[in-house]
Amino acid sequence: MDLMEYQAKELFAKHGVTTTLGVVVTTAEEARAAAADIGPCVVKAQVKAGGRGNAGGVKLAKTPDEAFAHATDILGMQIKGLTVNRVLVTPATPPEEEYYFSFLLDRANRQYLCIASVEGGVEIEEVARTNPDAVKQIAIDPGVGVDEATARAIATEAAFPEAVFEQAVTLIAALYTVFTEEDATLVEVNPLARLAGDRLEALDGKVTLDDNAGFRHPDHAAFEIRDETDPLEAKAQEKGLNYVKLDGEVGIIGNGAGLVMSTLDVVAYAGQRHGGVKPANFLDIGGGANAQVMADGLDVILGDAQVRAVFVNVFGGITACDEVANGIKGALEILGDQATKPLVVRLDGNNVERGREILDQLDHPLVTQVDTMDGAADRAAELASK
Ligand SMILES: Nc1ncnc2c1ncn2[C@@H]1O[C@H](COP(=O)(O)OP(=O)(O)OP(=O)(O)O)[C@@H](O)[C@H]1O
Ligand SMILES: [Mg+2]
Repeated sequence: MDLMEYQAKELFAKHGVTTTLGVVVTTAEEARAAAADIGPCVVKAQVKAGGRGNAGGVKLAKTPDEAFAHATDILGMQIKGLTVNRVLVTPATPPEEEYYFSFLLDRANRQYLCIASVEGGVEIEEVARTNPDAVKQIAIDPGVGVDEATARAIATEAAFPEAVFEQAVTLIAALYTVFTEEDATLVEVNPLARLAGDRLEALDGKVTLDDNAGFRHPDHAAFEIRDETDPLEAKAQEKGLNYVKLDGEVGIIGNGAGLVMSTLDVVAYAGQRHGGVKPANFLDIGGGANAQVMADGLDVILGDAQVRAVFVNVFGGITACDEVANGIKGALEILGDQATKPLVVRLDGNNVERGREILDQLDHPLVTQVDTMDGAADRAAELASK
């Protein structure tokens, strides 16, 4: 899960990384009120995308009325396709220098990586291109971690100026605590700013939490923002379905993550013969696919306006094909008129004969059975292209 800046800063504050929290609001009126308390401030778009400043989503306000005007502009604005629904109002503290600092999971090398640069923060990509030596990459052994001595070595390598050096050491160690104790895969501060009076502060924050470690962090659930989640994914989550929305026309239901992944490939491949249609989603209904689970799955997929045909691809193992066939039958009964798109069903494995018989007898106008996975993918892609 990616966090918004204000959420990242909450975690920073919790672990002693110097930052200012500010106030998060959803209306321009509230922004005015917050600015009246804070004084000169910046109004910052809260979206999970980079480059907010360059997109006009970060604006300085000297008065509450200016904060109101900026919030009016920024709320509702689109940044990289994301709508801004909230802004952070935070004290204006113009940086004298900007640095870049991050810890991230380096999967390829099975270690953590620290990236630091004192040559300007926000345009770090530009610095990396034109002056790569100014961007230090320091490997961190996860088994050893970052203690004060390592933090000192990092600060030295990155060449933090004397005036903020000790603060940098403390901040680096604290950021590493955020990274490990919160089970993050990315903790980034850009800019890490040197403010008036040589104060070092995280002016921005980006954190990605590892969802696989969610069970260790019940408090992370509070970071989930409902209105930012795709409505279909939210609905699927409510029903406990393993669903990921994709950008295509062929709805996919299968049992087992591996089968569903290969179904996506086969459909994408077949789609090339039928006007370039693509899979619309990933949906794994797992082992015990009873009628209700099948109905829930179909309900979510049929709710996707982009979907024009659905491919149900089931390999009966522990769950026998006749149970799945009854699941499909039950689902169509539950959905009634809401089922409006053609279903191509491929059953194989345990009790396949009985399963196919059930669907033959059902003789539903929307259901087509195809015996092979390739054949069924082709048929579903063809139906979706019409
Ligand atoms: N509290 C603040 N006071 C004064 N200036 C600020 C403040 N916060 C940010 N800025 C200025 O705005 C610039 C952009 O801010 P920020 O890093 O938060 O957004 P961004 O980098 O454009 O967005 P993203 O990190 O999503 O790419 C900073 O480099 C800094 O110069
Ligand atoms: Mg930034």
